[in-house]
Amino acid sequence: MPRTNRVAEHKTALVIGATGIIGGNLIRHLDTLEDWDVIGLSRGAPDYPSRMEHISVDLLDPGDCEAKLGRLGHVTHIFFAGYTDRPTWAEQDPANTALLVNPVRVVEPVAKELHHVCQAQGTKYYGAHLGPWTNPARETDPTHMGPNFYVSQQKFLESESEGKSWSWSSLRPPIVCGWSLGKPFNLVNLIAAYATISKELGLPLRYPGEERAYRTVVQAVDVDLLVRFMTWLATTPECADQGFNISNGDLFRWEDLWLRIAAYFDLEAGPVQTINLARMMGDKGPLWERIVAKYGLMPYRLEDIAHWPFGDYMLSTDYDMISDYNRIRRLGFHEFVDTGDMFLRMFDELREKRVIP
Ligand SMILES: NC(=O)c1ccc[n+]([C@@H]2O[C@H](COP(=O)([O-])OP(=O)(O)OC[C@H]3O[C@@H](n4cnc5c(N)ncnc54)[C@H](OP(=O)(O)O)[C@@H]3O)[C@@H](O)[C@H]2O)c1
Repeated sequence: MPRTNRVAEHKTALVIGATGIIGGNLIRHLDTLEDWDVIGLSRGAPDYPSRMEHISVDLLDPGDCEAKLGRLGHVTHIFFAGYTDRPTWAEQDPANTALLVNPVRVVEPVAKELHHVCQAQGTKYYGAHLGPWTNPARETDPTHMGPNFYVSQQKFLESESEGKSWSWSSLRPPIVCGWSLGKPFNLVNLIAAYATISKELGLPLRYPGEERAYRTVVQAVDVDLLVRFMTWLATTPECADQGFNISNGDLFRWEDLWLRIAAYFDLEAGPVQTINLARMMGDKGPLWERIVAKYGLMPYRLEDIAHWPFGDYMLSTDYDMISDYNRIRRLGFHEFVDTGDMFLRMFDELREKRVIP
């Protein structure tokens, strides 16, 4: 079927990962747009109000996908924001690829008006998790020696869309910041919990990562900006069949931002004191329960708020993390967010929702 540049006036999004940080925030964004209907997929039930149709499905089970998704002929856009954790990249590759392949194989043949499939990747596409990588990273840079599930997922979309009426795109954000609880990859929640515990123990806010990581140049993206970008990407025909770097558009060093974060929590910014968060925070669950009771907070467990090994990785990355953004700017996406302001705004939200005191 020939490709068309016409974007349907009324669109139906199938969002894979309805309870995740990216998928959940994307659904909340699409909820505000009159020309979108939304279907959300995940095993768990979303913990936010939405006008979407939610389908509880195990996407790793092809039979469950067949049974529950075969009727979705009205889908025009698929947004993939699923993720399943595994101990090694070799194990992550088939599992995460199946998370995309299983639902697409069922929905794509029946969705005759399918226009676009947008896939969330990350800077790990370039090997950002392996050590110093080519910086600033351009979308045309080769990936690293695999396994890498982002690459397997993209290859599937490339081959599956060949000769069809729909196109694909992928986005490669750095660390994504925003509202989510119960999913591990959330640096804002982690820092907020770390600061709250430091304060309760009468300690300054010491940077727990590596000394060199404190001074390196890094980037982040506000999930609100990211989901607006995904919507734009999926409806801008010029973006078809390509990968895109995306972030807030600025760069920062923890040594600057840490001072603002300490001031926000009314703490002295201590010097760097490298600790292994996974080990040192392992016994802080009971302390968190006391903090919850003392300040009348929502009864979240510490492990619902912070995944400490993720903090060890993020706060000890001691090489530059810089992407090139000329491609999105050339195509017309010019939104930006001040990353320092973003962190403080997100701490405000955690306070308003009584997650932290
Ligand atoms: N978060 C970041 O900072 C970041 C940065 C760069 C790139 N990315 C990439 O963006 C993508 C999405 O990440 P995320 O952080 O938004 O993920 P996340 O918060 O961990 O959410 C993952 C989603 O996948 C769903 N899921 C997992 N296994 C499933 C299954 N078997 N059946 C149905 N649904 C399943 C989860 O729902 P249930 O558990 O309820 O089933 C959840 O809704 C990933 O590829 C990730 O690598 C993320």
